[in-house]
Amino acid sequence: MNAGPPRLPSPDRLAPFRDDLDALASKGRRRALAGRTGVDFASNDYLGLAGSPRLSCAVRRALDEGAPVGATGSRLLRGNDDWHEALEARAAGFFGAGAALMFGGGYVANVALFGTLPQTGDLLLMDDLSHASTREGARLTRAVVAVFRHNDPGHASEVIADWRRRGGTGSVWIAVESLYSMDGDRAALDDLAALADEHGFLVVDEAHATGVWGAGGRGLAAHLEGRDNVVSLHTLGKALGGSGAILCMAPALRDFMVNRARPFIFATAPSPLVCAAAIEALAMVEDEPWRRDALHARVGLFGHELAARLPHLPPSGSQIVPLIVGGAAETMALAAALQARGFDLRGIRPPTVPHGTSRLRLSLTLNASEGDIVALAQALEELWPAS
Ligand SMILES: Cc1ncc(COP(=O)(O)O)c(C=O)c1O
Repeated sequence: MNAGPPRLPSPDRLAPFRDDLDALASKGRRRALAGRTGVDFASNDYLGLAGSPRLSCAVRRALDEGAPVGATGSRLLRGNDDWHEALEARAAGFFGAGAALMFGGGYVANVALFGTLPQTGDLLLMDDLSHASTREGARLTRAVVAVFRHNDPGHASEVIADWRRRGGTGSVWIAVESLYSMDGDRAALDDLAALADEHGFLVVDEAHATGVWGAGGRGLAAHLEGRDNVVSLHTLGKALGGSGAILCMAPALRDFMVNRARPFIFATAPSPLVCAAAIEALAMVEDEPWRRDALHARVGLFGHELAARLPHLPPSGSQIVPLIVGGAAETMALAAALQARGFDLRGIRPPTVPHGTSRLRLSLTLNASEGDIVALAQALEELWPAS
């Protein structure tokens, strides 16, 4: 059969992209970037460090002492700076880990981790609500991938048993978040650590707990750090106010990642200046515990306000408070009404969260005062859609 002449691309090469954007718009899911306005109920700057004079001074001091702005290359080439090494040594000590390795962000750290450590013949078992970066890493893994029901260690155990029955003999990598980014609830870490002791490794993403929860702000898995079958991720761009991420793990795993993790090997190292900021931020977590205490007090205050005004909405018990509205359009309308009153909070809708669970994702930080929190609770009471 004659296939005919080859088809040339349409003269309007941008049409498929516009069509896709139109399709998103017709489902109420087209997004756009917006500037920062209103009281902060949306950032991850939980301890208010991002704009703190102490952090800025640390970066200025590092510059004055000769720190370069750019790393100039991969860590394995000329890009390895004393500041990277100093941060990793400090972070390993702070979190109580055998070793630490820095990445440019939590997203890339998760992609590197899951794309590198689980091996052929292993099982990567993720919580159903795992972050997009863990899922992205899972697309690159050589291991078999499975999911267990959110926060259900019993189900995780069943999935492992089923995999073993079907001949799985390798290590199991159990991937969870210590504090879930969209629901603000906590993983059952001790049950999962026991499963990991029997079957392999536990990987804990502490993105939203680092600096805020656990003994001394060292995260909710602080008591598990240092075990050779525990890997943890601490982001530097949320409570620590800068950017980047640290993976804590056994020295042999760190060495393996340095040799095998493509996002580490084939990327320019993070700026030494963000290392200087992170070292100072860890010091602030250590010697300014009042920040953590003040944040915990705000979590308690908002829970109290919510119970008094909208008792059908359960508090999460953390600084991340999902207020489930249901429909995407209703959620976005409520977010817009609150934004118009000067509260910067965002509606979250599918595909970030499951259908029917669109929500306001409220984030409590030291950037919003106790008065702001009470005012927001009043506005929520007034504007919440009648059911
Ligand atoms: C649970 C979790 N892991 C990883 C990341 C990615 O971290 P980063 O923003 O440093 O890339 C995020 C960011 O939102 C997150 O919520």
